[in-house]
Amino acid sequence: MQGRPTLWPDESNAVPSRSYSKTLPAEAFPQTVRPRTPGLLLGPFYPVHLATERQSTEKHRAGAPSTGGQRLELSGRVLDTYAQPLAGACIELWHADPQGRYRHRSQPGVEEIGFDFAGYEVLTTRAEGSWHATTEIPGPYSHDGVSRAPHLHFQVTYRHVRLVTQMFFPDHPMNATDRWYCAVPNRALLVGRKRSDEPGCLALEWDIVLAG
Ligand SMILES: [Fe+2]
Repeated sequence: MQGRPTLWPDESNAVPSRSYSKTLPAEAFPQTVRPRTPGLLLGPFYPVHLATERQSTEKHRAGAPSTGGQRLELSGRVLDTYAQPLAGACIELWHADPQGRYRHRSQPGVEEIGFDFAGYEVLTTRAEGSWHATTEIPGPYSHDGVSRAPHLHFQVTYRHVRLVTQMFFPDHPMNATDRWYCAVPNRALLVGRKRSDEPGCLALEWDIVLAG
């Protein structure tokens, strides 16, 4: 074996041994303090035709309260698992209108959706990782025989990390029968926290935690 190149000083170890880590102080291994937000499917209604026009995000605000639904104020932060805020993260947000219809070419009846409702928005987190969106509460819908509780879709990108997930509403009775919601072990992390519920306006807070 003499002269044969090796990856490690001791080839019996494919990775650094435990004794290797013993030389480093405990502070070198920071503990994660926030559980990662679970991922959930992209869904069949990702608005591809709008996502290609990100430079025109102002034209594609998620939904104007004038379309007849209940106003929804969303806010939160994008963090890593060490609870560090991630500024400059890109958030794509899309959801159904109050009648449960997506502005998508595969959506039956899409031509009946109000002109003011785009159902899609792109946000960038601020210095403290915060974000805010004003839209309206989406309605439940059924697709391919699967009933869905009201939810909003998110795709969050920060550097090399991307999370596709969905946010649900607290105490909504349809959550318990939503196939995808119930498939997530730690699904409580997918539920927004109520900040206020005044007549005509529901305010929710939801932090999104990315791997890292
Ligand atoms: Fe959906």
